[in-house]
Amino acid sequence: MGIHQKKVAFVEEKRMSGQQNISIVGMGYVGLCTAAGFASKGARIVATDKDQQKVDSINKCKAPFHEPQLEEALRKATKQSKIKGTVDLEKAILETDVTFVTVGTPSKPDGSSDLGQVQEAATEIGKALSKKEGYHLVVVKSTVLPGTTENLVKPILEKQSNKSCGSDFGLCMNPEFLREGSAIYDTLHPDRIIIGEWDEKSGDTLESLYALFYKQQKIPLIRTNLPTAELIKYANNAFLATKISYINTIANICEKIPETDVAKVAEGIGLDNRINPRFLRAGLGYGGSCFPKDLKALIALAKQQKIEATMLEAVQKVNTNQAKHAVELVKKEVGMLENKRIAILGLSFKPDTGDMREAKSIQIINMLLDEGADVSAYDPVAVPNAKAIFKKRISYATSALNCLKDADCAVIVTEWNEFKDLKPEDFIASMKQPIVVDGRKIYNPETFTKKLNYKAIGLG
Ligand code: UDX
Repeated sequence: MGIHQKKVAFVEEKRMSGQQNISIVGMGYVGLCTAAGFASKGARIVATDKDQQKVDSINKCKAPFHEPQLEEALRKATKQSKIKGTVDLEKAILETDVTFVTVGTPSKPDGSSDLGQVQEAATEIGKALSKKEGYHLVVVKSTVLPGTTENLVKPILEKQSNKSCGSDFGLCMNPEFLREGSAIYDTLHPDRIIIGEWDEKSGDTLESLYALFYKQQKIPLIRTNLPTAELIKYANNAFLATKISYINTIANICEKIPETDVAKVAEGIGLDNRINPRFLRAGLGYGGSCFPKDLKALIALAKQQKIEATMLEAVQKVNTNQAKHAVELVKKEVGMLENKRIAILGLSFKPDTGDMREAKSIQIINMLLDEGADVSAYDPVAVPNAKAIFKKRISYATSALNCLKDADCAVIVTEWNEFKDLKPEDFIASMKQPIVVDGRKIYNPETFTKKLNYKAIGLG
């Protein structure tokens, strides 16, 4: 198996036709959104998960987490009998021709990925393949380090099925780039498709499937070997995290230079085609289920290979410091935090999701609590998740205005649209003293600084 020397191609119509029967293993964000997206492209999806409750919820068209457009897509797919959930993985494999593996790969304490769920999925799929006649393609979509598909997944599949990869079944690694909050859109309109393949037939089969899904859209497609596809995902996320930590460093410099605003600097450099304006929003830094985890895993891999990961470690450090910096801004304006009421607007790691994994709110609230502050928090979606984390250590408001009541300072942690609509007068009317620390730069500095004590990341 060598690297394919093919240039970037575009998905084009291939011979594959008829009904596509696809099973998807693991109904997290990637699995369920991929299931709903592929179903809306006409495929028949068997969605599997070990968690019976999750499966029941999918069959009732109820998404187990908040994601715009997901329930609507599930309802449509169910109505057209395009999707069904089951805990029976074997049956799912036997009924379908292609299986996507979308199980989680959480971090272990040393930063490396826990591959337990991948191993388990491969074992079950392998066992089912032993009972199956005809060719079946297995596609790893979970984020796994280079070498995992070839050295872990393939041997398990071969051992359990007693069949050989290449001739009896196919194997691809197809990284996923969907973003929470716009997962359905991203599934329907990917920037590009990366296919890592064990052999040409595996790659041809997956390319044909995607050709059917995306035949009208000119989507760049790269075919390569398995480890390169695996590495593309890590390199991609690490690069985006680097952009964020870079602009946050510039933001900190801006704060020391009067009359500068990092948003203008980002706009200026973003117009350079070589840079582009995206992922240059300065603020509290990145959170979520991917960037922090993938950075850790890439650094662990580099260390294992005795390669200095200085730059990646700096990206992490800047990101951690950014939340500390926000708390410093609060302290500078409010003074000692003991018994001061701090209103936190936004708990999720980004808007349009309830996901609080590695959310900046957690780091900030813990620091405020350590300093003796009295924290009230509001988020349109994430409050149930926050309750599981903070329990009764903070109070939970039912609206933004309610959260601001009697506060000594408000911190904007997540840039939900409803916070953007707040006017200086709303803060003045509700708060004990109107101090706003804008961690996501959502307000117009001119309007706000005129009317209240307004501090924002990257505002000189
Ligand atoms: C990311 C990748 O974008 C996606 O391709 C991959 O499949 C999974 O990881 P996601 O974690 O859903 O997606 O969110 P994303 O929109 O990338 O934002 C990640 C974090 O970076 C958020 O906390 C966000 O607030 C922060 N961010 C993003 C910034 O601080 N500034 C920016 O300019 C952009």
